[in-house]
Amino acid sequence: MDMKAMTSDLPTSSLDAVMNTLVDGAVVIDSRGLVRLINPAGQAIFGYTPEELIGHNISRLMPEPYHSAHDGYIRNYLETGENRIIGIGREVEGQRKSGEIFPMSLAVGEMGHRDGMLFIGIIRDLTDERQRETDFNELQARHFHLSRVAAMNEMGAAIAHEINQPLSAAANYVETGRILASRRDPPDDRLLSILDKALEQNHRAAEIISRMRTFIERGDVQSETVHLGDMIDEAMMLSLSKFRDTPIAIDRRIDPDALRVKGDAVQIQQVLVNLVRNGCEAMIDQPVKCLTLSIHPDAEHPDMSRISVSDTGEGLSDAVITDLFTAFTSTKSGGLGVGLSISRSIVHAHGGRIWATDNDGPGATFSFTLPRVQTCAEAVNVDRPA
Ligand SMILES: Nc1ncnc2c1ncn2[C@@H]1O[C@H](COP(=O)(O)OP(=O)(O)OP(=O)(O)O)[C@@H](O)[C@H]1O
Ligand SMILES: [Mg+2]
Repeated sequence: MDMKAMTSDLPTSSLDAVMNTLVDGAVVIDSRGLVRLINPAGQAIFGYTPEELIGHNISRLMPEPYHSAHDGYIRNYLETGENRIIGIGREVEGQRKSGEIFPMSLAVGEMGHRDGMLFIGIIRDLTDERQRETDFNELQARHFHLSRVAAMNEMGAAIAHEINQPLSAAANYVETGRILASRRDPPDDRLLSILDKALEQNHRAAEIISRMRTFIERGDVQSETVHLGDMIDEAMMLSLSKFRDTPIAIDRRIDPDALRVKGDAVQIQQVLVNLVRNGCEAMIDQPVKCLTLSIHPDAEHPDMSRISVSDTGEGLSDAVITDLFTAFTSTKSGGLGVGLSISRSIVHAHGGRIWATDNDGPGATFSFTLPRVQTCAEAVNVDRPA
């Protein structure tokens, strides 16, 4: 549709040129609320042709309650000068020809024209942006839930381990007491029966603990081919969302041959998030904040991929380094101290290893390995004579 033909009474052809090149939707209406012009981006957003709109009321592009109230808004503005939107811009809802209601940002300007006042609305469709936000919030909620579950598992394993020892010691004492009581002459049947009950309860507790351990250790590890490239961006977003106000430089050094690994995507992502988050937390008070993520085939074990997260943070003192991976070890006021122990459990369950080193310069490097899926070229080369 030739826009000029539709708008021959509008000020200049240069306005048409501007409207046609705008990436955002633009709609011009007159003081009666009738559409005088809609640019191609606007037509694409609302799904109407210009013929279907020009000369019709703009309320066609709005859902209720704006649909019915819009004429009133313009009249009120023209009569009282009371401005609710012009020059302000706000988020409102639009309605496409299909009936779909969608979020959009709307900025309105006014211009004088020989026919009276004209208003121009600049429209940006926010559907994709909102969808990305929703997806990210869902991802964050799922991740938060999973890290809680993992923390509970870690806690359960630690409790089970700690309680087992005193429990078996108590059982030993009761057994000994029972032997002593049975040697009495005549045997103290009442005492014996009480000690039997104590032993029974002890066995029950041991049984519960043992069941708890099997339940925790069973933690299913899915083994599928995971493409790390797909998950890095998501892991970075999850980790960095807490540091929106802190400028952190991210450097990626990635060998594509190491990107395909075998394992459980969600769990591997948890490890990455824990390490990246720790790295960022360690840099918070440091002048240089640079995080390097590298992924390469492991030099010592080429059948593994090595993933390293290096920061320019406070680094690792000898005192910290010994207990890093032990559950509930934290130097942070708000830290639970389970991030690294969960990461270690996950990496070990995948047949990899995880370790930390203090950098030569500032900061620390955390690395872990995962079984690598060979590239096609490598697989072919294995069979080829040297
Ligand atoms: N990149 C790092 N640089 C310096 N110290 C670190 C780094 N990563 C971990 N640490 C040390 O190891 C400790 C344990 O880390 P871990 O991730 O297990 O727990 P946390 O970060 O304290 O708490 P959370 O359970 O919330 O993760 C940290 O408290 C910190 O002292
Ligand atoms: Mg942590």
